[in-house]
Amino acid sequence: MSILRSLASRDRVFDFLVPAESPVDVRHGPILYLEDVTVSFDGFKAINDLNLTIDDGELRCIIGPNGAGKTTMMDIITGKTRPDSGQVWFGSRHDLLSMNEPDIASLGIGRKFQKPTVFEVLTVFENLELAMAADKRILPTLTARMNGEIRDHIDEVLEIIGLKALHARPAGILSHGQKQWLEIGMLLMQRPRLLLVDEPVAGMTEQEMERTAELLTGLAGKQSVVVVEHDMGFVRSIARKVTVLHQGSVLAEGSMDQVSSDPRVIEVYLGAEVEEETL
Ligand SMILES: Nc1ncnc2c1ncn2[C@@H]1O[C@H](COP(=O)(O)OP(=O)(O)OP(=O)(O)O)[C@@H](O)[C@H]1O
Ligand SMILES: [Mg+2]
Repeated sequence: MSILRSLASRDRVFDFLVPAESPVDVRHGPILYLEDVTVSFDGFKAINDLNLTIDDGELRCIIGPNGAGKTTMMDIITGKTRPDSGQVWFGSRHDLLSMNEPDIASLGIGRKFQKPTVFEVLTVFENLELAMAADKRILPTLTARMNGEIRDHIDEVLEIIGLKALHARPAGILSHGQKQWLEIGMLLMQRPRLLLVDEPVAGMTEQEMERTAELLTGLAGKQSVVVVEHDMGFVRSIARKVTVLHQGSVLAEGSMDQVSSDPRVIEVYLGAEVEEETL
């Protein structure tokens, strides 16, 4: 009965075929806007009066020491954690603090966690197909035309993530880096407007890191991408604007050269990183 009902609502069933006309209004400002956001865990302010704006199509790197609040910030944007105070807006129309996690995701905010969660027994292609089916607006068995559209979209994503040649192989045989790309591909299947990527290159080989840099910089422009990463070589290779978080607030913001020569940033973060690297 519920299937009949959704079939009856033709505009809903077919709306993914329409070129993504986003409900996100960025005509007068940024795609993501955080103002004075604070969250405490047992009295400890993990995020403390955080102000951050991300422009439409921007690639932003977020760096900062362990415990700075980077992951918590993503938890707040995606609705996993509710802040105690502040404002979080997606474009000028969507107050994310009034929305739940699934609704925020369906607005077009995709999040990649550090650990890849691909289905190992399924092929690369099937993983992408499944990611599309996860979009509740689409029923799995519809017309041939729809299947064609889905196939084209999967092909396009396979191209972007560089896994075309491996599309028929089970995801379990992929290298760690390839699994990460597949997971980014699974997010892309949902045509996100904003991608949040937490530590994408941890555990990757140099070559995989280079490929990931190309992938993420290639996505920017078409969607906004926020990358949290500790690997400074990697950040340098993709960075446009960099935000340094420290104790739950923005410590510095600017080009990689600007922030990496900032004495406060060196003191709380880069100094320690350099020591680690030279050990
Ligand atoms: N659900 C939670 N309950 C209690 N404390 C939390 C919770 N989530 C985060 N914290 C604390 O908030 C602070 C910020 O953590 P967060 O994971 O956001 O840091 P991070 O910048 O992502 O660090 P890392 O670089 O190590 O990943 C830490 O002190 C952490 O222990
Ligand atoms: Mg983290």
